[in-house]
Amino acid sequence: MTKTIGLLIGSLRKGSFTRAVAEQTAALLPSDYIVKDIEIGDLPLYNQDFDDENQVPTEWQRFRDEMKDVDAVIFATPEYNRSVPAVLKNALDVGSRPYGQSIWDKKPAIILSVSPGAIGGFGANHHLRQSLTFLNMPIVQQPEVYISNVTNLLDDQLKITNEGTLKFLKSSMDTFVDLIQRFEK
Ligand code: FNR
Repeated sequence: MTKTIGLLIGSLRKGSFTRAVAEQTAALLPSDYIVKDIEIGDLPLYNQDFDDENQVPTEWQRFRDEMKDVDAVIFATPEYNRSVPAVLKNALDVGSRPYGQSIWDKKPAIILSVSPGAIGGFGANHHLRQSLTFLNMPIVQQPEVYISNVTNLLDDQLKITNEGTLKFLKSSMDTFVDLIQRFEK
């Protein structure tokens, strides 16, 4: 059955390695899975007053509406100072409110963390996992996707050249599809 998968990327950088890996990974999903790139870079910082005073910024409303139509989410994140980049944490916060109207609740998710360094964004991956667990999202547990030394895996067009990495990413998407089907309404 057709599914819509939201792709949320924690880097706003042109030429982002995280985006390159995320898009090529999402392309490994079955052909009836529609991948939707969800913009998060334009979201004003979360301020509860905007919800309490019914003055919701148009970007928040657009994001919340778009996310309601998404069946599951791929989170792809770099690591900033051993944690999640602020832009991605802000999107989690905006989507989680107003209280009781979270757009994350029960949506299956997978986390990919990407880094030119050796630890593969472990800190960001697990900080994100902590928030998603609290937000009641079923998350792929295994395989854990830490893409380390990413510059060695990409060519100058940012294409993944390593066959082993592609095979691993395909297995992560297969597991993600299984999880989505298990939680089908
Ligand atoms: C980084 N970088 C980084 N890398 C890492 O492995 N662990 C870390 O804690 C950090 N911290 C960090 C903080 C800040 C503010 C920046 C800008 C960068 C390096 C980071 O992995 C590198 O810039 C990546 O290229 C960022 O991902 P994209 O933009 O290529 O997707």
